[in-house]
Amino acid sequence: MNIILTGFMGTGKSIVSRKLAKRLGMSYLDTDELIEKREGIKISAIFQEKGEEYFRQLETQVIKEVASLDNHVISSGGGVVLREENMTALKKNGFIICLSASPEVILQRTANNRNRPLLEVNDQKKRIKELLKIRKPFYDKADFTIDTSNLSSEEIVERIVARCSQRKGRCKNEAYLSH
Ligand code: S3P
Repeated sequence: MNIILTGFMGTGKSIVSRKLAKRLGMSYLDTDELIEKREGIKISAIFQEKGEEYFRQLETQVIKEVASLDNHVISSGGGVVLREENMTALKKNGFIICLSASPEVILQRTANNRNRPLLEVNDQKKRIKELLKIRKPFYDKADFTIDTSNLSSEEIVERIVARCSQRKGRCKNEAYLSH
């Protein structure tokens, strides 16, 4: 069984996934990191040179590969939820957790990062709100959602661990859950 973190940019997926993997003694993977490693360039350069559609194809390829693994915490890019085939693949052997945050918090957390091509616009807050609205039904497909706006990464990890332990027999590393 894998644990997959989805959610909008800046909701804390990467840091929480890393800490969660450590807490549960699972392996950690980040789909954006895998794509960058494979292409040898940053996400922003992939968007710029080859376009979003090319990036989405790569993303689906990587998702299908990681979905066949076991015992991994997988941090997925914010747009992974948009393709049904991605979600179908991930759900086969995965518990899907969505991290959310308010537009204000997302703006704060993403403001200084230049590797998010979808937020390279003049009015970032407006863009964040638009994308959140469009994507809400897709993020809602997760098994459960945690609003991270006012939580530390440690608190988020503990909430996830608590939810996993309620799902008896689903999270493979249950032995760690009582620690
Ligand atoms: C994207 C989110 C990014 C990255 C790409 C597209 C999106 O990942 O995959 O820039 O469509 O929301 P993070 O959510 O890790 O920033």
